[in-house]
Amino acid sequence: MIVCLCRRISDRDIQHAVREGINSFDVLQDETGVSSHCGACHDCANEVFQEACAALHGGGAETCHASQKVISIATAFAT
Ligand code: FES
Repeated sequence: MIVCLCRRISDRDIQHAVREGINSFDVLQDETGVSSHCGACHDCANEVFQEACAALHGGGAETCHASQKVISIATAFAT
């Protein structure tokens, strides 16, 4: 499934990136561009990222770092 419409990033792209060693959502954004335009996909992308990390590392959340960013660009334009 496509997670990020702006950058055409799928759940499989995110899973692949995690398997390749990306363990930070911020790095995932830098490397793939996911959630780096309108931000509407941020929560879904972060959830897919966390699930991929948990699957790869057996649920060890400490091995992956969730996004600390709050994407509010879309919200800012909506108001
Ligand atoms: S849908 Fe992902 S940045 Fe717009």
